[in-house]
Amino acid sequence: MALDNLIDGRVIANQIHEETQRRVIALKDQCGPPGLVFVRVGEDSASRVYVGMKEKACERLGIQSQIQVLPEETTEKELLGLIGELNIDPAIHGILIQAPLPKHISEATIFSAVSPNKDVDGFHPLNVGKLLLGDTDGFIPCTPAGVHELLIHSRTPIDGTDVVILGRGNIVGKPMAAILCQKSEYANATVSLCHSRTENIDEHCQRADILIAAIGVPQFVKEDMVKPGAVVIDVGVNRIPDSTAKNGSQLVGDVDFDAVQKKAGLITPNPGGVGPMTIAMLLRNTTQACAKANGLKPDIFNT
Ligand code: GUN
Repeated sequence: MALDNLIDGRVIANQIHEETQRRVIALKDQCGPPGLVFVRVGEDSASRVYVGMKEKACERLGIQSQIQVLPEETTEKELLGLIGELNIDPAIHGILIQAPLPKHISEATIFSAVSPNKDVDGFHPLNVGKLLLGDTDGFIPCTPAGVHELLIHSRTPIDGTDVVILGRGNIVGKPMAAILCQKSEYANATVSLCHSRTENIDEHCQRADILIAAIGVPQFVKEDMVKPGAVVIDVGVNRIPDSTAKNGSQLVGDVDFDAVQKKAGLITPNPGGVGPMTIAMLLRNTTQACAKANGLKPDIFNT
């Protein structure tokens, strides 16, 4: 099996971390370290793993982080109270409320309550609006921003290409479409956003120069859905039963990797593709939030 068509997210994320580390050092020198708080409500096992990984990455780079864990029964009002306190804490520059939240809490209400200046996830309506308008001053959601960096670093042409995105979620699909359809460098794509009600989804996929799967269906993208030479990005993380595995399950993406890899021009492995990039973008956004909070211009990072 040829493995020379992989887009290695770990390598690219590490390159970005090196730059972020330089930014952290510059910030420590000028105003003190960047601070990021993670808020997790309940004990969703995937969320525990993700927040733990993000926190470890902060530690490695010298970003001061803390995790606030609240019980599943926390009310929306209580969570809003905590966010209000974090919004005015000068040592905290970034606030991440890990999704999914328990069903009795409205994610839209919570994401809107985070100060847009500390919204390193890019989920606040002001930042969503800025992204859509092409205003580069806001925060961009970390996973689609990471996918964009993977395309840029792998020198994948984007301008004028047909991009098909599977999944219209607020965290990946919609912001991904907004990034790639902008009238700007590394964008200018013709974007189709496919979802559960899309007819003839295979045909859409077959014309994609870049196919981005964020649909949450295990191994949804099969070989016959992919144009030869297409760039395939797998955002999916799905747990499926596996009687041969120690814990009785295994993680797979939204792409049938072994079959699709033979046909794709470039493809992300999973794990080791998009996941590390999400973390890299989060830490980079946090340095940006810290610089802004301290009235520093972005050129302090040009060291
Ligand atoms: N849940 C899945 N992805 C994300 C993310 O990027 N940010 C937050 N806050 N929650 C998530």
